[in-house]
Amino acid sequence: MKLAVSGKGGVGKTTFSALLIRTLNDQGKRVLSIDADPDANLAAALGIPGADKIIPIAEMKELIIERTGATPGSIGGYFSLNPKVDDLPEALSAKLENIKLMRLGGVQKGGAGCICPESSLLKALVRHVVIQRDEFVVMDMEAGIEHLGRATAKAVDKLIVVVEPGRRSIDTAGHIRQLAAEIQLTNIAVVGNKIRSGKDEQFLREHLSDLEFLGFLPYEDALIEADLEGISPFDVNSPVNLVVREMIGRL
Ligand SMILES: Nc1ncnc2c1ncn2[C@@H]1O[C@H](COP(=O)(O)OP(=O)(O)OP(=O)(O)O)[C@@H](O)[C@H]1O
Ligand SMILES: [Mg+2]
Repeated sequence: MKLAVSGKGGVGKTTFSALLIRTLNDQGKRVLSIDADPDANLAAALGIPGADKIIPIAEMKELIIERTGATPGSIGGYFSLNPKVDDLPEALSAKLENIKLMRLGGVQKGGAGCICPESSLLKALVRHVVIQRDEFVVMDMEAGIEHLGRATAKAVDKLIVVVEPGRRSIDTAGHIRQLAAEIQLTNIAVVGNKIRSGKDEQFLREHLSDLEFLGFLPYEDALIEADLEGISPFDVNSPVNLVVREMIGRL
């Protein structure tokens, strides 16, 4: 099953992704996790030792040259749009039990529609992982769905949009939905996060009434503490762990 997680900045994408991945791991499933948000640190949220030392693939200059035949940062010129990537998940991932993690990193944006060697490699990698792998794939994305092309989107089983009770988070969900529709990715589910009361849940249900809700995660101080202390939200015993297990049952 291939899952992509998106949503407004700070809503809890990384927290939810980490909970989901660690829970699947706990259930004995092999999970390939992709940190596709340049500003995030999914590895830390997963509790992978040395998380801050993992070099993002977009910064592996020699690899990019070797695989695409072009110099990173170059625009124009020739490079492969279909580089070899099938060995990379094994070779480049950080590991924790049944979890493999790949950190994509950020690609410098050129003009609109610009394709550079780094993004060509990352796109090919995401395409491979989503289309050809038979393990669970969970992608922690930014407030958009970059790296997902049409062909890849077809193989994504669900786009999970994390929302919190707040108007901007609803607006962003609408925007993500539009982007997804453009690549014909229509299987979308919503996770309500940071829920403090029935009123919060009601607010989200009302404003996103035509979307499927996978579930609601309570607001938990313990998750903020975990973040501050650099431990995985999965490793603080909180009620969210049970809710995430129920969500997996619904997938
Ligand atoms: N259910 C929750 N209850 C309380 N705090 C939460 C909850 N979920 C996430 N948080 C806290 O909210 C903050 C943002 O969470 P997180 O980093 O997961 O969001 P994000 O959407 O990945 O952010 P970014 O857009 O920066 O990548 C963190 O401090 C996290 O601990
Ligand atoms: Mg994040």
